[in-house]
Amino acid sequence: MKRIGVLISGGGTNLQALIDKQGSVIKSGEIVCVCSNRSDAYGLERAKKAGIPTRVIRKNADCGGDDAEFNHRICAYMKEMDVDVIVLAGFLAILGGELLTEYADRIINIHPSLIPSFCGDGFYGLKVHEAALSYGVKVTGATAHLVNEITDGGRILLQKAVYIEDGDTPELLQKRVMEQAEWIILPEAVEMVCKQI
Ligand code: GAR
Repeated sequence: MKRIGVLISGGGTNLQALIDKQGSVIKSGEIVCVCSNRSDAYGLERAKKAGIPTRVIRKNADCGGDDAEFNHRICAYMKEMDVDVIVLAGFLAILGGELLTEYADRIINIHPSLIPSFCGDGFYGLKVHEAALSYGVKVTGATAHLVNEITDGGRILLQKAVYIEDGDTPELLQKRVMEQAEWIILPEAVEMVCKQI
């Protein structure tokens, strides 16, 4: 069994999908810890309910706003927990340095669009869906990909398309993309990587 560390920043519905699919879709790994860069992230409650250890590491409050220190602390926690694979499940800070070297090809991110559309710096959360709606695309979706030094630029593992519907708002679209794509392909991508390494 590979040991999985999950990084979150918010509600943690993707974390919940991972927890719920342990043993069914995720057969080659288990979630051993959850780390959040926000102390008020609801995902921390989800982890606690599932009996998973948690840690909060904040860039400004704990690391003096220093990127290298922030990455170092997260990396040190992952090492302490003997993590093999890191999953960014709605983690809205950019990772770099040490963590990317130590965990090369072992960090998975879920992004709420069909990369290479609506991705890169500044495209996260609802902003992605606002951009898709204002561009007027008829199909969007989600992408599970490996993380490298280019924001949303690592190798694509899985993608799933979702249709835009009449009357969509960013919030409605976000919910449909989560339900029809993210919560399905993220656990599948995690299993792919755990099985392969
Ligand atoms: C998800 O839609 C995820 O794809 C997105 O943030 C949301 C987090 O929701 N991630 C990004 O935009 C990364 N660039 P969650 O906390 O309920 O899983």
